[in-house]
Amino acid sequence: MGTKRDLVSILDVKDDLVGLLELAASIKNRTKAGEPYEPLRGKSLAMIFEKASTRTRVSFEVGMTQLGGHALFLSPNDLQIGRGETIADTARVLSRYVDGIMYRAFRRENVVELAQNASVPVINGLDDREHPCQVIADLFTILEHNGSFKELKLAYVGDGNNVCNSLLLGAAIVGMDMTAACPSGYEPDAEILATARRIAKDSGSKIHVVADPVVAVQQADVVYTDVWVSMGQEKEKEQREKVFRPYQVNSKLLDHAKRDAVVMHCLPAHRGLEITDEVMDGPRSIVFDQAENRLHAQKAILSRLLAGV
Ligand code: CP
Ligand code: NVA
Repeated sequence: MGTKRDLVSILDVKDDLVGLLELAASIKNRTKAGEPYEPLRGKSLAMIFEKASTRTRVSFEVGMTQLGGHALFLSPNDLQIGRGETIADTARVLSRYVDGIMYRAFRRENVVELAQNASVPVINGLDDREHPCQVIADLFTILEHNGSFKELKLAYVGDGNNVCNSLLLGAAIVGMDMTAACPSGYEPDAEILATARRIAKDSGSKIHVVADPVVAVQQADVVYTDVWVSMGQEKEKEQREKVFRPYQVNSKLLDHAKRDAVVMHCLPAHRGLEITDEVMDGPRSIVFDQAENRLHAQKAILSRLLAGV
């Protein structure tokens, strides 16, 4: 087997993360200048979605088209996986047809199994532990707005979920300080937190988890939030909406951040719950620039993994 590269965890691109952000910037510039860039001519990407998606699906599909290639949307109900074909066999077969597989899954184990059995790169389009492609786009957005990660502090307010986990690892890798404010029982994954802290020691950043959102946003340059009920947690909705109420990103909370702090959200947002309309539509919100950057970041990831750019 060749030396294919997967992106299951953001840790898989740890040593190339800054390079990927540079590539995303250069690809975005070319796109804005109307310059064609087609390193994936004739290549295909299979996309398996076990969960809904707007941004990930559209940015990967349009990204493949813009890079000269093609993407196929596959839902498990249409695939034979839905009728019992194994993930391993699916990986082996798809590898004979396509040049890469993107997989949005309920369980990390399934993404790992697909990656281990595919001879083409496998890209994690979100699972229960991480959302690496999201965070690559987020770091690109932060870099665009601030020029550097030095002396920056990101405050994450809300659920210690997949997005929070990847943000902790991403912040540690690029050397940005991060404080997550999460209610008791909803903290980020302990193993991921320990890994982020180990990496942060080398990169010189500080990683904290606290319970008080006001403490987290103090001196923050970026305030980030995500939904309180992730896909697959719908049964916990009522309980979660109660627990997370004090974690809403609203104007009052933002008063404690730096004056020029920006607000980010990976989207989809539940307006009036984790974020107010006022903040989401206000001057500090960069959520739609962030959403656009999914496309540019995806193109960098695809060019790197599928064509070695
Ligand atoms: N942020 C994100 O991944 O959005 P989708 O669920 O719409 O893909
Ligand atoms: N944490 C959210 C992110 C959605 C993009 C979820 O997993 O549903």
